[in-house]
Amino acid sequence: MKELAGKRIAVIGAGKMGETLVSGLLQAGYLDREQVVATAAHQERLDHLEDKLGVATTLDNRSAAQGADVILLGVKPQTARPVLAQIGDLLTTDQLLISVLAGVKTTALEDMLTGDVALVRVMPNTPSLIGSGMSAICGGRLATSEHLEVAEAMFRPLGRSLRLDEKHFDAVTGLSASGPAFIYVVIEALAEGGVKVGLPRSTAIELAAQTCLGAAGMVLETGNHPALLKDEVTTPAGCTVDGLLKLEEGGLRVTLIKAVVEATSRAGELVDPD
Ligand SMILES: NC(=O)c1ccc[n+]([C@@H]2O[C@H](COP(=O)([O-])OP(=O)(O)OC[C@H]3O[C@@H](n4cnc5c(N)ncnc54)[C@H](OP(=O)(O)O)[C@@H]3O)[C@@H](O)[C@H]2O)c1
Repeated sequence: MKELAGKRIAVIGAGKMGETLVSGLLQAGYLDREQVVATAAHQERLDHLEDKLGVATTLDNRSAAQGADVILLGVKPQTARPVLAQIGDLLTTDQLLISVLAGVKTTALEDMLTGDVALVRVMPNTPSLIGSGMSAICGGRLATSEHLEVAEAMFRPLGRSLRLDEKHFDAVTGLSASGPAFIYVVIEALAEGGVKVGLPRSTAIELAAQTCLGAAGMVLETGNHPALLKDEVTTPAGCTVDGLLKLEEGGLRVTLIKAVVEATSRAGELVDPD
């Protein structure tokens, strides 16, 4: 991948998401371990990353950031300010800062930075680990199309990505970043239904998960509206329509809508405004 060839990547705050992204890129062969240095707050975390990913690690954010071509910021939103205060003076216009922080706008991050550095904001999700992620990408004040291309190159092997106006990022957080958790609950509940009607639990989980995967693939690959695809499964007077009636009775649809709305509104409150 030419955009990442020879580039040094510093992951500042390599927690669950940082590890997911690096792991996905290493597995896809888009990065070599030698290109990566990762930081965290605790040595135990670094030991885990060294064992699991085989990348260089340090507790020193400044030494990791210095000289890196791309700095991936993966700390919690609340930790952005102190971490950027720590490394801000080292950052240069030759570097690209990529933030995956939920709820922190590019303007807020730029205000936390002392100097000029190009910033790209990405909102990924955890299925990036297996190349089935969904990431939204937007640029900050100094991001050029080249910077956006580098960010896209980093997220391409991890699944789908799209460029989107930043005004939609809280909604992306509430839908596709939080969404895997909602779908795991759906899978768990479908499987529970299978167990209730006598299936072995492992079989029920496999049936439920592959069904969700297949249904999602049908939506993406056919481009058909989900309602149309649902109608194709629903034979008049058949069994599916009885199941759908139970979903309506239980309010699944409205509950999922409310889950996305609630997660979106929480995304806007994750960090203090000053
Ligand atoms: N998880 C998701 O599905 C998801 C999806 C989209 C975006 N995000 C965003 O990704 C970011 C990280 O989320 P996460 O779930 O990966 O959280 P996480 O697992 O808690 O990761 C945060 C990491 O930051 C490290 N850290 C804390 N203070 C630090 C410091 N001063 N210097 C360097 N590292 C420091 C922590 O180190 P220790 O482990 O040593 O304490 C931890 O490994 C968040 O901003 C979140 O909004 C997450």
